[in-house]
Amino acid sequence: MRVVVTGANGQLGRTLRYLSPWTEVAYLSHADLDVTSRVALSRFFEQFRPQWVVNCAAYTAVDRAESEVDAAYQVNALAPRLLAECAAEVGAHLLHISTDYVFCGEGNLPHTEQAVPAPEGVYARSKRAGEIAALDAGNALVLRTSWLYSYYDRNFFRTILTKCLQQTSLRVVYDQVGTPTWATNLAQAIIAIVNKECRETGIFHYSDLGVCSWFDFACYLRSLIGATNTLVPIRTSEWQAAAPRPSYSVLDSGYTRAYFNLSALSWMEGAKACFEELTHRESGAFFQREYMERC
Ligand SMILES: NC(=O)c1ccc[n+]([C@@H]2O[C@H](COP(=O)([O-])OP(=O)(O)OC[C@H]3O[C@@H](n4cnc5c(N)ncnc54)[C@H](OP(=O)(O)O)[C@@H]3O)[C@@H](O)[C@H]2O)c1
Repeated sequence: MRVVVTGANGQLGRTLRYLSPWTEVAYLSHADLDVTSRVALSRFFEQFRPQWVVNCAAYTAVDRAESEVDAAYQVNALAPRLLAECAAEVGAHLLHISTDYVFCGEGNLPHTEQAVPAPEGVYARSKRAGEIAALDAGNALVLRTSWLYSYYDRNFFRTILTKCLQQTSLRVVYDQVGTPTWATNLAQAIIAIVNKECRETGIFHYSDLGVCSWFDFACYLRSLIGATNTLVPIRTSEWQAAAPRPSYSVLDSGYTRAYFNLSALSWMEGAKACFEELTHRESGAFFQREYMERC
């Protein structure tokens, strides 16, 4: 199986690289391959002849997107079209990652793949445009996920752990509800789908199991390290973010799990496993560093 992974220096891309599931694979960072360049995509695909392209590249700065509309649309909307078209030229299939933010947050039942998207904000609208563009080409599977976090980079998981270790008092939003998803679980699902070689098209949902608010998630992370810092629940309106976020964006991934025979962990099991990965891979260095910064 020859696979191209774009956006390979992002948290999902790095997770896939760490798991190393394929022998013939090109992990391409932004510097290696700009997914907004048709010429670069076409040239690379002609040379490498992938069977699958896994697109982990995205413009993910949700608030900054409000003032960088063109940049967000180039990566989130134009690139999926180019990727799908260039993949089709060499007979490859595209697995494109999208987001729970395509839903506006109305209702209180998990969104199935059939639920009608109603994206709000530039990031969400650009991601929805990317879904449509990728699907138009006829060779793409769009996999939506939610509240992604990992061992890598800056994300909610690492930020909260750091702040808790530093005994910083934190205000955390309690009126946005979704499902945190450990990037390793999503990566395992991607690997299973690609390895099935079924070349399915359409929209699929994959997130960890269960439901919580950002505040619940933070409380759970604090409990993992036994910290006692104060966590104050606040409303979204008190956070004053530039971009709107859905108040309820839980994905129903039951159909996708059954269709591809995928396993899943609860969001708490995922967070615990990510925490164990952090302690194992950094041999305590993370904790020492954060404590040192505090002293
Ligand atoms: N993070 C979340 O909470 C979340 C939730 C739901 C869905 N998702 C979706 O999950 C996917 C993976 O997200 P992630 O958290 O892994 O994102 P990430 O860590 O921000 O990684 C995105 C990667 O895309 C690269 N990139 C940006 N522009 C590019 C371009 N023109 N050409 C090639 N690469 C480019 C970035 O490289 P540079 O930094 O060098 O530009 C970065 O390495 C995305 O589709 C995202 O929309 C994320």
